[in-house]
Amino acid sequence: MHHFRYVGQHLHCESVDLAEVARLYGTPTYVYSAATIADNYTRLAKSLQGVDVQICYAMKANSTLAILRHFANLGAAFDLVSGGELRRVLSAGADVKRSVFAGVGKTEEEIALALQQGIFSFHVESEPEMARINHVAGKLGVKAPIAIRINPDVDAHTHAKITTGKSDNKFGIPLKVAGAAYEAASKYPNLHIKGVQMHIGSQLTDVGPFVEAVKKVSPFVAELKAKHGIDYFSVGGGIGIVYRDALASGSQEWWDAQLAGQRPITPEAYGAALVPLLKPLGLKILLEPGRFLVGNSGVLLSRVEYLKRGQSKNFLIVDAAMNDLVRPAMYDAFHEVVPLHRDTSRPALVADIVGPICESGDCFAKDRSLQQVGEGEYVAFMSAGAYGYTMASRYNTRSMAAEVLIKGSAFELINARETYDALIAGERVPAFLK
Ligand code: LLP
Repeated sequence: MHHFRYVGQHLHCESVDLAEVARLYGTPTYVYSAATIADNYTRLAKSLQGVDVQICYAMKANSTLAILRHFANLGAAFDLVSGGELRRVLSAGADVKRSVFAGVGKTEEEIALALQQGIFSFHVESEPEMARINHVAGKLGVKAPIAIRINPDVDAHTHAKITTGKSDNKFGIPLKVAGAAYEAASKYPNLHIKGVQMHIGSQLTDVGPFVEAVKKVSPFVAELKAKHGIDYFSVGGGIGIVYRDALASGSQEWWDAQLAGQRPITPEAYGAALVPLLKPLGLKILLEPGRFLVGNSGVLLSRVEYLKRGQSKNFLIVDAAMNDLVRPAMYDAFHEVVPLHRDTSRPALVADIVGPICESGDCFAKDRSLQQVGEGEYVAFMSAGAYGYTMASRYNTRSMAAEVLIKGSAFELINARETYDALIAGERVPAFLK
């Protein structure tokens, strides 16, 4: 559920009229609901009651400092994947001592920084990485806490670009050779074996693959506990959210109306399926949710520039583009598009919703039916809180969008729109061209 709904004709986030935000800060602008994030976090934590759980928010989904601060206040730790993300955690005034460092390509510098900051654990993806972490820890005179990422070879039934738990992915170490990898790790003098990790993919809409993966690796996890005294098992992230029907899914009625078995995963269903499997292991359980915590907490506000009526098609040209929100272009992702000013007396419009970028891939939706909107009016792209701003680029020399956080009736700019001067600040024309 979330906190975006129409009050009369006007789309609100919590108690704030989104059109007011668009007028004040311009567009394209990402807007996030602090209450939605807090609700998602609390619900997930509650659903895992019965096990000792540590939620490490996968900050790649949304790593703006204010959002990180909000998570730190809620008690979250972080799942980070780069030195840059680690620095963000510090800049947000949070600490990394309960956070984990994942990713297949950690550099020596990144490893050293994480060790100096007292990282909770590294999630190791390969044997050469293990050797490198051992080497850096030795230089610093410390022991590096590690867990090995197991690839359980389970099909997550999600988009090919975001499935990670199959044996042909670049991630983790196959279950059948993982025992040997742990043996190898135990021989390194500067490594401390602390846990085991897995992550099978993102935007899962069924608990089945999670259950399958946990069942598949549990015997191995129990063996590791006995042999190496590990104290945690990270089951990764991946809980999916509602993209179609995004606006309606803000209400309890919508969830109640979904037929059992057809509705997307709820944290309660996730917890009910996993807690009985995880509890007997007697370990701390880490979760690394990204999308579930922030996905439905954010929208991207955009202004309609033109309605171009073509011979065979209409094009609604908006001021947001694939550089701001790349998910539709990259994953054929569906984002619901709704007007900020709802007027049910207007006719419906069927159009391709496109941005101004010079390639046909810059298309948010094909043949989408929505209320007729015209130049100067605003629309919101729903469910844009995860992998929206963090995947944005400056393609076509378009500045990074602004970001606003709402809490109740309060709202503040948490990231100013990038200026042209900031955008070119690092660029130089070399003397030999002058
Ligand atoms: N843990 C690990 C090791 C991961 O690789 C990921 C995501 C997560 C946790 C968090 O997954 P989540 O709970 O958000 O599903 N850009 C894509 C999603 C890429 C996910 C990459 N890994 C998208 O926009 O759909």
